[in-house]
Amino acid sequence: MKPVGIFYGSTYGMTEKVAGQIKEAFGKSAEVDVYNLKNSTLEDMKKYDNLIFGTSAWGIGEMQDDWERFIDQFENFDFTGKKVALFGLGDQKEYPESFVDGLGTLYCRLPDKSVIVGEWPVEGYDYYFSLADIDGRFVGLVIDEHNQKNLTPQRIKKWVDQIKKEFN
Ligand SMILES: Cc1cc2nc3c(=O)[nH]c(=O)nc-3n(C[C@H](O)[C@H](O)[C@H](O)COP(=O)(O)O)c2cc1C
Repeated sequence: MKPVGIFYGSTYGMTEKVAGQIKEAFGKSAEVDVYNLKNSTLEDMKKYDNLIFGTSAWGIGEMQDDWERFIDQFENFDFTGKKVALFGLGDQKEYPESFVDGLGTLYCRLPDKSVIVGEWPVEGYDYYFSLADIDGRFVGLVIDEHNQKNLTPQRIKKWVDQIKKEFN
């Protein structure tokens, strides 16, 4: 597998923590670099053929703030030959009508959907509506550290095993 670049936006550090856990799940033999969007550029992303993007959910369908700086630039970003896997954090108990909407918005705003891998089953979560649920599948890994923290390690492990097969 080619090197992996994980890029995340995180306000209170929850997405940051999960990004670190995802890196660990790849194991020592894989080359995986983790970037906080706050301190990174599009040039950093260009280096990787395997990308993982992470965001939490805010406001009305909003991604974590740091994504705003990047997302408009994606129109000029060449995704040819790349694979992109997404993960999102949210709180299904407090926000059941907009659960992990940041993840859904990130997916919607990516110009080339054909490069996206790592979709995830909706079973095991309890919510009314989510922008990240498209035709009964989540567009990426969904993590709820508020209500299902105990499930996080096994979810990450299963998802990483899956995307290892889907990545370049
Ligand atoms: C003001 C506010 C709005 C939020 N809106 C949503 C939401 O619409 N949907 C959701 O699933 N979670 C929502 N959350 C929960 C966050 O996405 C969640 O706490 C996440 O783990 C934060 O991750 P971070 O610290 O990496 O930014 C909201 C939290 C706050 C404080």
